[in-house]
Amino acid sequence: MVIARTIEALQAAKEEFKGTVGFVPTMGALHQGHLSLIQQARRENEHLIVSVFVNPTQFLEGEDLDAYPRKEEADIKICELAGVDILFMPSIDVMYEEDELCIGAPAVRGYVLEGEKRPGHFDGMLQVVMKLLNLSGANRAYFGKKDAQQLALITQMVKNYFMDVNIVPCEIVRDDKGLALSSRNAYLSSAEKERALCLSRSLKHATKMVMSGELQAAKIKKEMLEVLKIADSVEYVAIVNREFKAIEKVEIGNTIILVAAWVGKPRLIDNLWI
Ligand code: PAJ
Repeated sequence: MVIARTIEALQAAKEEFKGTVGFVPTMGALHQGHLSLIQQARRENEHLIVSVFVNPTQFLEGEDLDAYPRKEEADIKICELAGVDILFMPSIDVMYEEDELCIGAPAVRGYVLEGEKRPGHFDGMLQVVMKLLNLSGANRAYFGKKDAQQLALITQMVKNYFMDVNIVPCEIVRDDKGLALSSRNAYLSSAEKERALCLSRSLKHATKMVMSGELQAAKIKKEMLEVLKIADSVEYVAIVNREFKAIEKVEIGNTIILVAAWVGKPRLIDNLWI
């Protein structure tokens, strides 16, 4: 495995490539969720690039940029064992100049839910993903459904800017109790981890309701909020279609139910695709 820390090193390592290239961008502190993307990309492509870069432009003032978990050594080992060909680990000045052009997230998908609660987050995220996709030259790039809105915006960016890469959506990986894996789970104490299960439980409860024929969004949200009472605070429970527009009735095959809540230090998100 080549560890590339500069654009030149990345380009030189890519010159060895002859077949299809898969790419998995991450912010590191790799866990089983990241690994599932890496393994899928490994299976589906001849060559594999993973990036680890904690992107400052997608963190808001007062968010956890400095505290964000960094585990460079462990990340290198995980990537080596997973058969990654190039691990791209740039510094901030490799990725950014002083005064940069920035593309903004589109109104509908970009300004609701995460976009409303974290204004500017998606602009910074799209900015770095555009850079990384261009640098990787990948045929396929892999993103988790865990960040549903991020995935939708990246898919739209690639379409709108005619970028020559296929975006591959990947399933959410959970621990054995149902907690969606996240680098930020590292902030949770064991008692908080137990309470954090209310996010996935609320989604399981919603599934049960839908399966028993209840499609009214308001009723589902109300019962989900009951399950979410043990969180420290709930930022939103939303039932939207794949365009991220709020809907009154669940449409099977076209609905995403999303939740964001604080438990202890971290803000957690989870969702369910119906
Ligand atoms: P990060 O949070 O490190 O996540 C990297 C990728 O792993 C994303 O596509 C995310 O959706 C996916 N992922 C995280 N947890 C997952 C889980 N439990 N199951 C399945 N997939 C999971 O998302 C980012 O980094 C950044 O915004 C990035 C795209 C790298 C741009 O900076």
